[in-house]
Amino acid sequence: MVKGLVVTKKMTNFARSKNKIMKRQVKIAPSLLSANFGHLEQDLEVINNSEADWLHVDVMDGVFVPNISFGFPVLKHVARISKKPLDVHLMIVQPEKFIREFKELGTMMMNVHYETCPHLHRVIQQIKEAGMKAGVTLNPATPVSAVVDVLEDVDMVLLMSVNPGFGGQKFISHTLDKVRDLRERIDRCGSNVLLEVDGGVNLETGAQLVEAGADVLVAGNAVFKAPDMAEMIHLLKNL
Ligand code: DX5
Ligand code: ZN
Repeated sequence: MVKGLVVTKKMTNFARSKNKIMKRQVKIAPSLLSANFGHLEQDLEVINNSEADWLHVDVMDGVFVPNISFGFPVLKHVARISKKPLDVHLMIVQPEKFIREFKELGTMMMNVHYETCPHLHRVIQQIKEAGMKAGVTLNPATPVSAVVDVLEDVDMVLLMSVNPGFGGQKFISHTLDKVRDLRERIDRCGSNVLLEVDGGVNLETGAQLVEAGADVLVAGNAVFKAPDMAEMIHLLKNL
């Protein structure tokens, strides 16, 4: 009886540790767009000392999206202070024009929008040749099937769960179906491509996204408007 109990316990522990190994560790990328630019250095210092994995940097041109964010003088300052790898999200037309500049900035991941790149395959190769990781981003209305022919070329697919341009918008719940669909496609071809989601991520939508198969969560307002930013990052990371 006692022996049986010990064996059962051992088996349960084994199942638990196996589960732990199988569990995907989600990465968190706070979005700089929601930072307080009045005390940017303080905010960046909190991110530096937090469990955040990357710093998400939204660059907008007022053409592809109806908003303008920050340019190179601000970005250079941010890059100097940030200890986290830069996950740059380019909401600009002709992003290929700035590959050299983003490389010089120290960008780790350069994400371009599918909708801005008629020669997406070429742009991905150029980003990788420059020594950065390449990500492709899809607007909410762009189907997941749009990336199948570059899935083996990219390092990450970023699914927008809001229409790009602004922080603090409501999460579009259909994104969960897209995450499940893309997760299945990535797993089916045994690739290491990361699946990132951006827009309206909080503790509730974040948990749903992790369950659906997201690897990386971008969070702007949820982090920067939280009373304790580091604690919010910790909670998101351990959903
Ligand atoms: C929106 C940006 C997002 C935005 C997210 O165009 O790409 O990164 O900052 O902000 P929240 O998390 O507040 O929706
Ligand atoms: Zn973004």
